Amino acid sequence: MSEIVRRYSNGEVTVVWQPSRCIHSGNCFRGLPAVFDPRERPWVRVDAATTADLVTQVERCPSGALTIERQAAPAGHDDPDQPVRIQVSANGPLIVTGVVTVVDAAGVETRREGRCALCRCGGSANKPFCDGTHKRIEFQG
Ligand code: SF4
Ligand code: FES
Repeated sequence: MSEIVRRYSNGEVTVVWQPSRCIHSGNCFRGLPAVFDPRERPWVRVDAATTADLVTQVERCPSGALTIERQAAPAGHDDPDQPVRIQVSANGPLIVTGVVTVVDAAGVETRREGRCALCRCGGSANKPFCDGTHKRIEFQG
């Protein structure tokens, strides 16, 4: 089944939303509530902020559920030669930054560029990726 992808453009950049990657951190709507409002449809209103503010906020999405598409990517962005970085988040997932191929137990490969979150609590319904369950089960680690 293909992954759901939604795009919201302001003519300069496009905010790309991939709900299966969201770990429900809430960074987006806490940081830029005029743009990101999960109670509204569409839930992303790109005209409610400047392009710079959109880019800054999207870069704070820890899971890669939100990404930005632009005319020309800045140098070094999604560079396959960039080293991969893995950060342990407190009581949450492993945040992986870089271009990686994740292979699940069945051998299915998923390529992720930019950022993704891997489940560390064991509770995700979307393993090996985090789906935000760690909060509900109050994972400590
Ligand atoms: S993971 Fe990204 S899209 Fe999901 S709530 Fe957090 S900041 Fe928003
Ligand atoms: S670490 Fe987020 S669901 Fe397991």
